[in-house]
Amino acid sequence: MTTATARAYPNIALVKYWGKQDEDLILPVAGSLSLTLDAFPTTTTVALDAATGTDTDIDTFSLNGAVASADATGRVTRFLDRVRELAGSETRATVTSTNEAPTGAGLASSASGFAALATAAAAAYGLDLDRRDLSRLARRGSGSASRSLVDGLAVWHAGDDAHSYAEAVAGPDMRMVIVTVDTAQKAVSSRAAMRRTALTSPFFPAWISSTEESLAAMLEACAADDFTRVGRITESHALRMHAVIQSCDPPIRYLAPTSVAVFDAVAALREQGLEAYSTADAGPNVAVIVRPEQAEDLRDALAGFGSVRLVGAGDGARLIDAG
Ligand code: DP6
Repeated sequence: MTTATARAYPNIALVKYWGKQDEDLILPVAGSLSLTLDAFPTTTTVALDAATGTDTDIDTFSLNGAVASADATGRVTRFLDRVRELAGSETRATVTSTNEAPTGAGLASSASGFAALATAAAAAYGLDLDRRDLSRLARRGSGSASRSLVDGLAVWHAGDDAHSYAEAVAGPDMRMVIVTVDTAQKAVSSRAAMRRTALTSPFFPAWISSTEESLAAMLEACAADDFTRVGRITESHALRMHAVIQSCDPPIRYLAPTSVAVFDAVAALREQGLEAYSTADAGPNVAVIVRPEQAEDLRDALAGFGSVRLVGAGDGARLIDAG
């Protein structure tokens, strides 16, 4: 097979990944848990140049109809080098990708991008990988991409290369309201900020042990189908991540005043019986989990803080065309 197309969705972590024990293999300092979304997919086609007749010595990468930056292309090439190593191939590829996330929503993520690329590239280069091995492969492009191979709730295990993959976990049914409070590009990439946190935060060792504890508690809460406990862990864990990020040198602060206002508004809604819990990734936008029956009320209640989008649990990366 020499051309393949795959689709993958972003995921939002409820227990966050923040820090690597191996930057080359992208092995995390602790496990994490996320919800794969049913919106904002990335669709990626990998065509081997031998099939298209464009016999070049470089990979080409276009994103949303434009030639991608040298940085982005370099990252794709390094990822494809790993695939070529596994496949015993030297053939270059033409990679064409479209991302349906609104610009700046913090969802045009490397997670959906590398999950789709891993799935399409593995098929195009003829690798026969199961979902677990595809998750391990996607991890090499971006850690959080390992989780976008999985439907719905996914736990990504820490460990060595062979054991660090994501797999499905059962848990409470939930929806998520994404509140986009700011669409500006973030000043420090999560990759660079993660490194800075590990190197300079005095709290980093405590962050690692507390994440291990949060993940163990989260897995118990999921197994018990306990939405309230899942929510409480989600919110306190997110604030801990932002605390450790703010404690690095020089400091980084991703949450904006409006982000904090959303956390406060969600806490106030809880007092009124609308049970929801906030989280935020490396940026100012807030994702709020809620029970399905209260999801529309939550969306309406948060509409004043920015653009809001109600999403649910979606599918892990899939091959959609293998011809
Ligand atoms: C805050 O997966 O983008 O979203 O492995 O360096 O590519 P790299 O990092 P990435 O980091 C995601 C960080 C986060 C938390 C999370 O998704 O768990």
